[in-house]
Amino acid sequence: MLLAWFDVSGRHDLPWQHPRAPYRVWLSEVMLQQTQVRVVIPYFERFVAALPDVRALAAAPLDDVIALWAGLGYYARARNLHAAARICVERHGGELPRDFDALHALPGIGRSTAGAILSQAWGDRFPILDGNVKRLLARAHGIEGWPGLPAVEKAMWAIADAQLPHARLADYTQAQMDFGATLCTRADPACVLCPLQHDCVALRTGRVAELPTPKPG
Ligand code: ADE
Repeated sequence: MLLAWFDVSGRHDLPWQHPRAPYRVWLSEVMLQQTQVRVVIPYFERFVAALPDVRALAAAPLDDVIALWAGLGYYARARNLHAAARICVERHGGELPRDFDALHALPGIGRSTAGAILSQAWGDRFPILDGNVKRLLARAHGIEGWPGLPAVEKAMWAIADAQLPHARLADYTQAQMDFGATLCTRADPACVLCPLQHDCVALRTGRVAELPTPKPG
């Protein structure tokens, strides 16, 4: 369902999709952690032009990396990226490791980012759970409770995992992000256009505007 929507309405021309190399996917995911696609694109293009692979990033002085990041904010991301590249050179032959635990152990790569990298770069079968996916799951399944609560997050990881398709994992990951960013948006979801409208618990129960539950207090 989501894949059919993605084929017609998803984003297929993002620079990190062509080519979908692990280094480019990793860089894009770190940039996209706190920054919107439209803002990220020119930074991404400049960064990969200056530092085209893990070894180039690892060899660059930190100041150069920070300068390429200037304007994106959250500079810990740039420092973590640089430190992670050096670890990849020391321990992983100058490549990003294709292994969940090894990826997750790198600075700046949490569980969802590790899943996003493995699925998009190699088509491996790992779920993601970023803000977009939490919103989609809360609504489609009628999950109450702030998704920052460990019990709520745990339930969402279980659903995200159970719903993974067996093919086209890279497209599926991108589909979820695009779906959350462009259709199942926080303030103005396009339910009449939604391929999940007949299965959405929140739509059926009139709770779209209330879900996901905001942070208490
Ligand atoms: N946010 C995080 N990763 C993303 C991606 N690959 N596309 C769009 N938004 C994202």
